Amino acid sequence: MADHGGAARPLTARAGSALKGSAKVPGDKSISHRAFLFGGLASGRTRVTGLLEGEDVVATGRAMRAMGARIERDGEAFVVEGVGNGCLLEPEAPLDFGNAGTGARLTMGLAGAYDFGTTFVGDASLSRRPMGRVLDPLREMGVQVAARTGDRLPLTLRGPRVAAPIEYRVPMASAQVKSAVLLAGLNAPGVTTVIEPVMTRDHTEKMLEGFGARIEVTTDAAGTRTIRLEGQGELTGVADFTVPGDPSSAAFPIVAAAIVPGSDVTVTNVLMNPTRTGLVTTLLEMGASIEILNPRRSGGEDVADLRVRHAPLVGVTVPESRAPSMIDEYPALAVAAAFAQGRTVMVGLEELRVKESDRLAAVAAGLAANGVAHEEGRDSLTVTGDPDGRGYGGGTVATHLDHRIAMSFLVLGLACPKGVTVDDARMIATSFPEFESLMAGLGAVLEPAKPAG
Ligand code: S3P
Repeated sequence: MADHGGAARPLTARAGSALKGSAKVPGDKSISHRAFLFGGLASGRTRVTGLLEGEDVVATGRAMRAMGARIERDGEAFVVEGVGNGCLLEPEAPLDFGNAGTGARLTMGLAGAYDFGTTFVGDASLSRRPMGRVLDPLREMGVQVAARTGDRLPLTLRGPRVAAPIEYRVPMASAQVKSAVLLAGLNAPGVTTVIEPVMTRDHTEKMLEGFGARIEVTTDAAGTRTIRLEGQGELTGVADFTVPGDPSSAAFPIVAAAIVPGSDVTVTNVLMNPTRTGLVTTLLEMGASIEILNPRRSGGEDVADLRVRHAPLVGVTVPESRAPSMIDEYPALAVAAAFAQGRTVMVGLEELRVKESDRLAAVAAGLAANGVAHEEGRDSLTVTGDPDGRGYGGGTVATHLDHRIAMSFLVLGLACPKGVTVDDARMIATSFPEFESLMAGLGAVLEPAKPAG
């Protein structure tokens, strides 16, 4: 099984001067995974610029190579030569996805419907995460699953000779499940239908269309989406594919500027797809000063630059319906809420329990360790803020192999005179390798901490 080698790397963030300047966040993780997956599957060449070179995405690239794709760097870009839809090769060795749920689950869909065996392994975090949500629909399509411990990694998939197209109603708000079923449908004859009662990020639908798949999306009056994909059609490489900046990474400098007094930071090239902008919407409701500058189109998506200045925040209730559009941003929002006047109530968070860590428990424990008043419910979190926050900090946060827990609590530390330590900063490299240098460039104080014990 994959691990992350070497010793944990504790890191401390503490309050220094105001954060100032401009920063460009790396490419969107969701779109970068899909660029390697779809580019590696499509026939012909796809040139990808702006790709996130985080460990998660690198693992997906390695998996696609193992199944026949060619991926080469060309200066700042990556050139992907795909195999053609239906023509993936059987990998000779287990595919190791490290920490990456998206890479593992989407590749299960992509490779699972092939008449060969594919073994999936990952790190301790990924090996704890539920895979049944993807395996259940794959079983309906005829895929056999061999797993040692329940529906968890490590596991091996073997597709039938001909996969059955299915109609599948996604039982939880999950873009990964939706995507896995659609990707399996690419290798099944006939039409695979996914019904999505709650809209989640739509990168798979949009990008498949861009790669030439026959895909049709309808939305009824209640907002339920029906996605129909014709299987076994041709996919063709996209000559120039641009990955916009990741709003989930932008969340960290945005929240940092919102809570550190005197800050004025511009985060450039941020994806503004409405399925991803819940944090910005919520911060604006809380009174944050965020200007949306230079709105423009890039790579078929809306992008903008966000200028964030420190301003007083007030607590709000975040509607449950907004959860899918900010599902990865609740840890960062909890940190902003710590500095808001009054209570911030977050509900409908059950999916946070099955992320890289149990994020609800990890956030609550991190807040507790640093003196932030809060209440953890089964699927909710309430934070009672203190705009002054002078008593906060001094704690060490257990990150549980979760990059977003590490970055969120380092951001908390930037507004605490006593500072905040995270027990291990290594996982930050899975999604945001330049986090430390980018934050330091804005004036953040981040320094190595002594290992605990
Ligand atoms: C992702 C979907 C979300 C998100 C993850 C990326 C994707 O997961 O949390 O970081 O790229 O499809 P779920 O589908 O489990 O909600």
